[in-house]
Amino acid sequence: MRKKFSNKKILVGICASIAAYKTCELIRSLVSEGASVYVLVTKNALHFVTSLTLKTLSGHPVIENIFDEEEFDNIMHVQVAHWADLIVISPATANIIGKVAHGIADDIVSTTLLATRSPVIFAPAMNDQMYMNTIFQENLKKLKAHGYHFVEPESGYLACGYEGIGRLASQDAILKKIESCLKKVHSR
Ligand SMILES: Cc1cc2nc3c(=O)[nH]c(=O)nc-3n(C[C@H](O)[C@H](O)[C@H](O)COP(=O)(O)O)c2cc1C
Repeated sequence: MRKKFSNKKILVGICASIAAYKTCELIRSLVSEGASVYVLVTKNALHFVTSLTLKTLSGHPVIENIFDEEEFDNIMHVQVAHWADLIVISPATANIIGKVAHGIADDIVSTTLLATRSPVIFAPAMNDQMYMNTIFQENLKKLKAHGYHFVEPESGYLACGYEGIGRLASQDAILKKIESCLKKVHSR
């Protein structure tokens, strides 16, 4: 039987949020549905998940550094940006959203995002006050206007102890968004 993501090349970017562990399950689901998955991490994300876990789940070395050249033989961020049918950033921190909104490319995740023409999905996760911050909201609006896709966070109990909006969307919602974006023609 044909799997949902057969022959699809998906880059998963992970940022430094407490919700990073949930993306391990997402990677597992993508791989078991036939996707070829490479994982990009910010340096800070490795406080929350290990490279070994991500490498084992994706079946490929984890891309952590702009200047590593492990699997892709040329300029890596350009190659992976080109390779991907779709990029999903989960969890997306306020920081990565701010960086992309301002064209900053100072690590492997932000640099790859600037170098791609493939659809990009952000699944933000953060404290409710960070989420409601007007600067963050402006960045969100700007990225949406530029054609970036979002899976909106949920409201509920947050890891910081507060209740509010900012919980990473469910795995199901993220998978559905990936599926629908892959069906569309490139949007940027
Ligand atoms: C325990 C802990 C949890 C955090 N969770 C989040 C989060 O869910 N969302 C967020 O935007 N920032 C969160 N932060 C702050 C980010 O880790 C921080 O802004 C960092 O610089 C982001 O780096 P990155 O975007 O390069 O991964 C958290 C920090 C700590 C110490």
